[in-house]
Amino acid sequence: MGTEQQWDIVSGIGITALAVAAGRAVEASRPEALAVDPYAARFVEEADAPIPLVTTLAEAEATDPTGNWAAFATYAGVRTRAFDEHFERAAAAGVTQAVVLASGLDTRAFRLNWPPDAVLYEIDQPLVLDFKSTVLRKHGAAPTVPAHHLLGLDLRNDWPAALETAGFDRTRPTAWLAEGLLPYLPPESEESLFGEIHRLSAPGSLLAVEYYLDLQQALDGAAERSREWAENLEIMIHTDRRPTPGERLSGIGWEVRDVPVTEAARGYGRSLDVPVPLSGNAVFAFARRVQV
Ligand SMILES: C[S@@+](CC[C@H](N)C(=O)[O-])C[C@H]1O[C@@H](n2cnc3c(N)ncnc32)[C@H](O)[C@@H]1O
Repeated sequence: MGTEQQWDIVSGIGITALAVAAGRAVEASRPEALAVDPYAARFVEEADAPIPLVTTLAEAEATDPTGNWAAFATYAGVRTRAFDEHFERAAAAGVTQAVVLASGLDTRAFRLNWPPDAVLYEIDQPLVLDFKSTVLRKHGAAPTVPAHHLLGLDLRNDWPAALETAGFDRTRPTAWLAEGLLPYLPPESEESLFGEIHRLSAPGSLLAVEYYLDLQQALDGAAERSREWAENLEIMIHTDRRPTPGERLSGIGWEVRDVPVTEAARGYGRSLDVPVPLSGNAVFAFARRVQV
């Protein structure tokens, strides 16, 4: 996929952001929800998606008796909760500058408790962020973060320059998040992404990133559960073997802790031991920059 290529919320990689919002909406409809995103269902309702999406557990079970949707919602809930806690830990540690890379329809700017001096930058494709802003405005959502910047950019291009122009301060520790992003980046863009995060991270910075032990295996697992999903994902996902975040960062001054998604789920009293499209071997890496 060339760097000139753009997408909106119902095309190309953009639709994956809508699918994750559907997963969050279904999770929010569960009595035992791990995360309640009140806007997730609104995004699905407002988009004219070319694939069938659902917003409640009842709809998920009626549409898909095999349980794919319900399991995907658990995955979305576990992931959302785990990374909500990343920002809670960052705030508790006094890290109040945050950057969400490939934020898609992430609404943390509108639903987390942010400290009074917090500033949050979100980066995603311009049309994806335009859709999000339009829907949130229509539903009267107000940011809970005191300073909020949306940057419509391609993460395969020079995003750090735009981030710094928008006010990002590299001397201030940062809480970074890359959730559901790495599979969509070509290997060279992923390498450059980690290099830039490192370059822009003052000591004390915290990074949470989701990666996959084996993307080909995750895709094969997806194909067993849903051919339609697997075919869509195959076009967008780069399955090349890459260094893990720990391999990239441990030798250059970061402490890295890996939490497999199955373990995270068990920690919340839920199970993800049955492979879910694209989540079977996901790992959440939590890293802290300890040295210059
Ligand atoms: C699976 S969604 C995840 C969205 C969000 N982080 C979440 O978990 O809800 C993937 C997101 O990555 C974004 N993305 C992928 N490649 C990108 C790139 N090169 N530049 C900007 N955004 C990108 C897509 O637009 C999409 O919003």
